[in-house]
Amino acid sequence: MDQQIEMVEMKPYNEYIAMTELIYLTDSYQKELTTTVVSIEKHGNLWEVVLTATIFYPEGGGQPSDRGTITGKNGKAHVKHVRMKGDLVIHECTLEGKLSPDDEVRGTIDWQVRYTNMRLHSAGHIVHEAVRLVAPNLTPTKGYHHDDAYIEYIGSLPIDTQYRIEKESNALVEQNVPLTTELVSMEELQKRTPWAPEHLPKHKPLRILTIGTLLPIPDGGTQVRTTGETGEIHITKIENADDHVRVYYTIEQAAQGAPAADTSPAQTLTAAQLTGMLLDVQNDTISHAITPLESKNALAELTKKIRLVPPQDRQAVGIVVTEVKQSIESALSASSSDLDARRSTNDSWFDVTMPGIRPPEGHLHIVTQAITEISKIFATIGFTRVRHPEVDWDYYAFEALNMPASHPARDEWETFFIEYPGKPARATPGVARGKMVLTPHTSNGQVREMEKGKLPIRMINIAKCYRRQIDVSHTPMFHQFEGLYVDTDVSIAHLKGVLDYFAQQFFGPERKTRLRPFHFQFTEPSFEVDISCGICNGTGKLANGDPCRLCKAGWLELGGAGMVHPNVLRYGGVNPDTHSGFAFGWGVERTYMMKSGTQLDDIRLLYSNDVRFLEQF
Ligand code: DAH
Repeated sequence: MDQQIEMVEMKPYNEYIAMTELIYLTDSYQKELTTTVVSIEKHGNLWEVVLTATIFYPEGGGQPSDRGTITGKNGKAHVKHVRMKGDLVIHECTLEGKLSPDDEVRGTIDWQVRYTNMRLHSAGHIVHEAVRLVAPNLTPTKGYHHDDAYIEYIGSLPIDTQYRIEKESNALVEQNVPLTTELVSMEELQKRTPWAPEHLPKHKPLRILTIGTLLPIPDGGTQVRTTGETGEIHITKIENADDHVRVYYTIEQAAQGAPAADTSPAQTLTAAQLTGMLLDVQNDTISHAITPLESKNALAELTKKIRLVPPQDRQAVGIVVTEVKQSIESALSASSSDLDARRSTNDSWFDVTMPGIRPPEGHLHIVTQAITEISKIFATIGFTRVRHPEVDWDYYAFEALNMPASHPARDEWETFFIEYPGKPARATPGVARGKMVLTPHTSNGQVREMEKGKLPIRMINIAKCYRRQIDVSHTPMFHQFEGLYVDTDVSIAHLKGVLDYFAQQFFGPERKTRLRPFHFQFTEPSFEVDISCGICNGTGKLANGDPCRLCKAGWLELGGAGMVHPNVLRYGGVNPDTHSGFAFGWGVERTYMMKSGTQLDDIRLLYSNDVRFLEQF
């Protein structure tokens, strides 16, 4: 029985000064609300209902609108779509019975729809954080959190970042960190967020969202409480087009403890993933890494998975499936007829030609390889590798390097200080050793080496260093190698000669170095050492005339160097009137990455213990 009744409207909505109170902004888990009808109007086939307060999310910010019901004493509205109009939320409904202004009503949202929408929306933010880690300079333009969800950026992303974005996203999901929201003024929003979209709604309160301890981001949608609620995230595609790139993602159909979604079944495999799995089975079959039975079972399982691929890709992937299937089957029948032939001649079922299972072969970590190579290069010219503490007194890390306590230069080393329960010993009479630090550089080895009292010194100190930094080009633990040469009459010419020698040995015979004036407290004069770029041969230009993207005008920065400051020599008990020295200190990882062909865009991969990455080197 449809008793829709045309209502005589009070005033057009835009004459209401009040705005709808947006409950979903502060509580995205509220499923029901008692409120009152402000107005109800018929537009076309639908009724447009305005309430004093609402828990219904109006479509926007890439998130679809809520659905549900609004029930009064004389009727019930079925909310089909919700939108914002000025400061008001318009609920577009079909109506059974009658609703009138001032009626007390109970609004109920369709929780399954909402929960899926908000998990997808939160997952979008998680993916964005992962993209920010992988490509910090991309500017986001929009998020689309419907089916076929994506985040769009200005710029482009290499396709092979797909796996890393997925990995970083799921790392956040696994950490299960909270998502917190705050209502803020425009001014505060601009101050606290790294990026604000151009057209922020003026009619909605502004809100910022913080995931764990990451930087806040403007957001007005509904969000889950913790990242774990989104469930595993799949990056299904990276699509570069003209000047923008889209990162497509999906989430599991229903996360733990959540109601099942009533949307289309989750697509848990991309065409490329399924093809990859099939090819693995094919290779394993051909190389006899799996038995024919295992191969047949795996094939049957994978054939079932076609339905997990997005419908539009199924036909294309189906062709690949058939091809791979045929080649697996013919490989199997070839090997079985082979076997049959041998059986009949040999009378033995045992296939002696079958290769054995090879255990995977490991190799040294690439940083260890770099350390060995660097040590050898310096050993050839008489520099001995030495070891000095990696947890040391402030005295050796700063004080004896001409940086007394509270010297501003110390700020450049984001140092970890640690508790030392005992009473520190004294280095030299009257000089306190200060606090304990995780060495922020290998320069602590300079004075320690001098204290051994043997001259001349030709040391290369390679050790772990620690700084409070983590991003694509920094890890909190990294390695440096520190050279020190102290003798009579050591000059800058010696330094330059050693640097050129190292550059040619490590990077290649055509490479050159240059010294740029700089400042360090522990050297005078001090330099930054640059090495000519291996990609553009130090010209700054590629063969086709384009500017080289790897270097700055033909040069890459290697690290610091200089002539040891007389005060540092004195701290080490060396007489600056009879002796002089040079020193240099560079990052092992950074230097290694500058070798042509080893350009990593995320240094943290070195320590992620991911064998798939490490085995390439
Ligand atoms: N210790 C410096 C750093 O970590 C690098 C450095 C610069 C070392 C100049 C030196 C030097 O030995 O002479 O940034």
